[in-house]
Amino acid sequence: MGPRYTDAVTSPPPLGADLRRGPLRAGDRVQLTDPKGRHNTIELASGKTFHTYRGTFAHDDLIGRPDATVITTTGGVDYLAMRPLLADWVLAMPRGAAVVYPKDAAQIVAMADIYPGARVIEAGAGSGGLTMSLLRAIGTHGSLHSVERRADFAAIARANVEAFFGGPHPAWRLDVGDLADVVARETDDAGPHPIADRMVLDMLAPWENLDAAAGALEPGGVLIAYVATVTQLSRLAEAVRDDGRFTEPAAWESMVRGWHLEGLAVRPDHRMIAHTGFLLATRRMAPGVPPPARRRRPAPGAYSDVPWAPEDLGERVPSNRKIRKVRAAIVHEDAGETS
Ligand SMILES: C[S@@+](CC[C@H](N)C(=O)[O-])C[C@H]1O[C@@H](n2cnc3c(N)ncnc32)[C@H](O)[C@@H]1O
Repeated sequence: MGPRYTDAVTSPPPLGADLRRGPLRAGDRVQLTDPKGRHNTIELASGKTFHTYRGTFAHDDLIGRPDATVITTTGGVDYLAMRPLLADWVLAMPRGAAVVYPKDAAQIVAMADIYPGARVIEAGAGSGGLTMSLLRAIGTHGSLHSVERRADFAAIARANVEAFFGGPHPAWRLDVGDLADVVARETDDAGPHPIADRMVLDMLAPWENLDAAAGALEPGGVLIAYVATVTQLSRLAEAVRDDGRFTEPAAWESMVRGWHLEGLAVRPDHRMIAHTGFLLATRRMAPGVPPPARRRRPAPGAYSDVPWAPEDLGERVPSNRKIRKVRAAIVHEDAGETS
């Protein structure tokens, strides 16, 4: 087991709001946009120079200037200089694991109903991308317990989150370990009391943690999982149904297509991030209360040995009577045409 990343926080630290106001300062991250819309993110440091094949500029020429300013290189090229928004920050920050894209983080916050004051458990923390959106949503009166099984990724997540908020966030705890072990420890300590209002899973095998989710969540609490592939989605959906402690799962994906806006050439961009992942959400039933029976028969898991039937894939199988009728009509027409 790697080091634990649970720190005692003694005084309320800055949450980053002040970092995003006022003139640009040494230590600020600044996003530079060139005339073709390409981005570069730099950390301002007195005495440093930004180099590009289009010339250079001194960081000191930006320090003290207002946010959203234009700086011109020695080669005469204008760069727009702005403090990055959270969405920009996440896409530009150093990564260990792949981050949840901002469009999906927004869906998670809205559809899992992450509210100020909520007690949220998240795994895996990865690079800390989603963590920042969750912390923003719960505010300082909620709690976010992030769990990451890899110590090296946890260290990256911590560095990213603390750089974004300008220090430790008082509502955040990050543990290195396996989610199921960490949650089992906490639920044991809490006795019969649920410890979480929401649980957010971004990991390879979320179905392995349904027991942990059921043990941790309040009745009515939301479990949301982000998975990259259809096979994971299918396996998770069937595991949620089989478990019997959750409501019927809902699944969806979101696609965001940018638009090109130039004079009369207003059209969708030619390129887009076409696939990131799928979201699946479900809610914890009250203890001992099974979810209402589904009207449709659940498909056998794609991973069982039961042979697949068309109904399992949602196909409507026509009755023999209907097939006889159609066949008779076709045979009759063919006979009519050839005679
Ligand atoms: C795709 S990454 C998460 C990225 C993160 N949401 C972000 O936006 O930066 C998935 C992470 O889950 C971690 N992981 C997988 N299974 C886990 C488990 N059972 N408990 C804790 N962490 C786990 C992996 O080590 C990996 O870092």
